Amino acid sequence: MNTANRIEPDGERKQVTVLFADVKGSMDLAEQQDPEEWRRIMQGFFSILADDVNRFEGTVDKFTGDGIMAVFGAPIAHEDHARRACYAALRMLDGIASYAADLRRKHGLNFSARIGINSGEVIAGEIGSEGDGAYTAIGHTVGMAQRMEALAEPGKAYLTEEAAEAARGFLELEDLGDFEIKGASRPIRVFELIGIGTARSRLDLSRERGFSTFVGRDEETSVLAAALDRTRAGEGAAIGIVAEAGIGKSRLCHEFAERCRGEGIEVFEAQAQSHGRGIPFMPVLQMLRAYFGIVDADPERIVREKIAGRALLLDPDLADDLPLLFDFLGVPDPDRPFPQLSAEARQRALCGVVCKLVHARNRREPTVIVVEDLHWIDEGSETLLRELVGAIEGTQTLVIVNFRPEYERGWSNQPAYREIALQPLGLDDTRKLIGDLAGADPSLDGLAEHLHERAAGNPFFVEEIVRELVEAGHLEGARGAHRLVRSVEEIGVPASVQAVLAARIDRLEPDAKQLVQAASVAGKEVSEPTLVGVSGLAEGGRCEAALRTAIDAGFLYEAELYPKRLLAFRHPLTREVAYGSQLAEQRRSTHAATARAMIELNPERHDELAALIADHMEEGGETQEAARWSARAAYWAGHSQPRDAMRLWKRTMDLTGELDESEEKAALAVTSRLRQLDYAWRLGMEREEEARLVEEAEEIAKRTADLRSLTLLRALLGARPGIVRKGEDWIAATDEANRLADESGDHHLQVAIRAATAYSRLCVADFEGVNRHCDEVLELAGDDPGAGAGIIIGCPVAWARMCNGICHRERADFEPAREQLERALEIANEQGDPETASWTRSNLATLAAAQGDVEAGLAMARRNHELTERLGDVFSRTISLTSLATVELAAGDHRGALDTLEEAEQLYRSAMGTGGELSAWRGALRVDALHGLGRTAEAVELARTAAAEARENGMLWPLPRTLRALAEALAKGGDEGAAEALGEAADVAQRTGSTFALDEIEQARERIAAARA
Ligand SMILES: Nc1ncnc2c1ncn2[C@@H]1O[C@H](COP(=O)(O)OP(=O)(O)OP(=O)(O)O)[C@@H](O)[C@H]1O
Ligand SMILES: [Mg+2]
Repeated sequence: MNTANRIEPDGERKQVTVLFADVKGSMDLAEQQDPEEWRRIMQGFFSILADDVNRFEGTVDKFTGDGIMAVFGAPIAHEDHARRACYAALRMLDGIASYAADLRRKHGLNFSARIGINSGEVIAGEIGSEGDGAYTAIGHTVGMAQRMEALAEPGKAYLTEEAAEAARGFLELEDLGDFEIKGASRPIRVFELIGIGTARSRLDLSRERGFSTFVGRDEETSVLAAALDRTRAGEGAAIGIVAEAGIGKSRLCHEFAERCRGEGIEVFEAQAQSHGRGIPFMPVLQMLRAYFGIVDADPERIVREKIAGRALLLDPDLADDLPLLFDFLGVPDPDRPFPQLSAEARQRALCGVVCKLVHARNRREPTVIVVEDLHWIDEGSETLLRELVGAIEGTQTLVIVNFRPEYERGWSNQPAYREIALQPLGLDDTRKLIGDLAGADPSLDGLAEHLHERAAGNPFFVEEIVRELVEAGHLEGARGAHRLVRSVEEIGVPASVQAVLAARIDRLEPDAKQLVQAASVAGKEVSEPTLVGVSGLAEGGRCEAALRTAIDAGFLYEAELYPKRLLAFRHPLTREVAYGSQLAEQRRSTHAATARAMIELNPERHDELAALIADHMEEGGETQEAARWSARAAYWAGHSQPRDAMRLWKRTMDLTGELDESEEKAALAVTSRLRQLDYAWRLGMEREEEARLVEEAEEIAKRTADLRSLTLLRALLGARPGIVRKGEDWIAATDEANRLADESGDHHLQVAIRAATAYSRLCVADFEGVNRHCDEVLELAGDDPGAGAGIIIGCPVAWARMCNGICHRERADFEPAREQLERALEIANEQGDPETASWTRSNLATLAAAQGDVEAGLAMARRNHELTERLGDVFSRTISLTSLATVELAAGDHRGALDTLEEAEQLYRSAMGTGGELSAWRGALRVDALHGLGRTAEAVELARTAAAEARENGMLWPLPRTLRALAEALAKGGDEGAAEALGEAADVAQRTGSTFALDEIEQARERIAAARA
């Protein structure tokens, strides 16, 4: 195997801008020259290019022979990588133009270059043979930049749409339309770089797009207003505003500046630029030009007049300083040149002049100076600013500066200085902001909360995500009147936001960055020991130091300190960006390491963590482990969280499918299918899906001679959800399952299947059969209440007592019935079986009603309903609703009962497709409710259908009730058929031994007779 060429594992995915520049037609040109001469010419060309790349902090990736490839944004990310590449390109084109003019003069050469620029993701890192690999970037993004270069006309720079989008506003671009490009599947839109644009900062860009309504910030605004009052009183003040990128420092300053201007106060603004650190005094120059009212078009003489005019008016003593000001502002007076000074001396002199301007004796009006983005300020400007702030006491000058937290401010101990830490927007303000951007359409419900959480109150992030949602077609309609047409869950991180966050992450020292990346894989929250384990920084105090840095820099916070330190990401987006920056291979190994650390460090919590461990194992490529842990998690979710359990079993099945054949694979494959079938009767399942699972499970069980699974399959086939079954077939299937269980000799299996069989007997009203099976369950279980637990239902022993209780109730032996049901509830609760507990409470509620204690019945039914809703499975919820309706009817609340029954019907049918084995029960109750409401015709019709269904399917348990309800409805309508229906009802009740039903029939007979009389 050839391992010479490989990517070092420390490669990263990065968003960058790639620039290609080369000489057009270099072969022909080279041919015209002596090779040595040509080499010198190219050397000159390369050094122009390399200088410009370095100036904007790009990296020359490689020399291509007749040009270069440069990358902006890697190894160190810059949030404005596209702008930097464009500035470099503009300078290159200028530099090359004069170089070419020179060459034309000296050598008669027609030398010209062209540039291509593209932005996007690359993989950056050391690539090459082991040991001597060089840092480089690879990926489609690189290829497209090269294509742009090949396309560009001589002397021009072409951009792809992605680069243009990132540079728009800051640079002037011309849209050249679509081009067919080799290697691109669709036409590519191409832009030409023309020059500098109008925007100087991101806020300018926002202004051009149309500011969003200014929200919140009342407190900060009043701090600024108070400072202005002090300044007016001649005290002077300086305020520093500090916050992360995008929180709204510039916007706050802008709003305040506008307010000052509105009051007739002069405001001068300047800002440091991210690519301007190398250009000394840029912000000071900006500030002074604004102060003297100088514009680009002013000729030198006018500039000097403006400076002198204003300076002398302020203070005639400034006359001596004019040469320095002229010189600094680039308009030296030929008659009075400024003497040559050392850089330091010149700087000191400049500081002196600025302080004099502030203290000028004729100044009457307050002045506001705003200097933005000090985190990018050059040293000279910073010194000057510090002196300025030191000197403003007793003046009418208010200095407002802003910066990001990473800025080390050296002058915050100045007496006139105060700092405002600008906080993220609160939810209410985010809501207002989103209301302004997107509108108030009902489809946007919940969007504000979602975005607030994702953007962590950062208005820039909010704006960009909304823009992304619009562009990706999730939001339709005009700004401020959008409709949400697609879910926003899967939307990624906008490139602009990613650029800011990636740059923040890259500014961390290597250990802290490694830690943050590891944490992003380990999860939203991760315990300290796990993080230490996966960070690769275990030795010494390295991890702790890195952790401190990550916390101090605001990436992580301590979500809990005791009993274990739990670390969490402060911003969800930072986590996404940190996660996305890693190579898949690296993420995989961190996921697997996280899983292993969780297992090792939490020996008592394996069950609880199993689902999470399975996630990490799966992401870590450890499919077998993932399948095991997923099964464990599914068992743990069990019957208390049936939906989770169903999902986890499906996942286990899918994971198992990827494994090589083995005994374990077969076991997991069959169990995961049987388990899903076991949840199917609780939750519902598509018919085809169910058929497929049955077929596959049967095939595997037969192939592996797995009698236990075959037995279960028989029993579960009997329990298929919602099948309109024939009682006799059902009984036959469960009897067969019983026989197989006995054959297997598996004691637990025997108990589980006996219990399931009791249910089929109950539905066909074979009460003796129920008792027989239940007694066998109790006998087989002996003194083990956990016998057969969890195979089909949670606790067969509790279930058996419950069924015996139901039979007692049918025989109208109410006290023994209560005794059994109460005991069943006790055992179910002790054994942690919330389902059997729910069913038992349902029966206790109806028993109370049967005994005439309607109040107690209602209380029990309502409480049960509440608890069962939490369980979430359709089968139990339907039963709890049915029992609630029974008690409501007993209480004479026909309306309430009807509503409850309709809810139950809807719930069951929509999940199962049919009404199931208890459909006739609900039918009988609905008939009574309709009857009570005077809707006799509907009652009669429904009763006929329900009775026919029960009769036909052999569901004899509900049949007497259905017929009794039919008789009462018929009698109400004056129909003679009533007597016949009552006769049949009594006949069935008699045959099946339901004294309770017989009593009800007798009462009905009396009611009918009374109504006739
Ligand atoms: N209070 C606010 N109400 C409405 N929009 C706001 C508010 N604060 C900021 N914004 C908007 O959020 C975006 C980012 O704000 P701004 O440019 O002021 O951030 P910043 O803190 O200066 O960031 P950076 O450090 O990158 O300069 C802008 O479009 C701005 O209009
Ligand atoms: Mg700003």
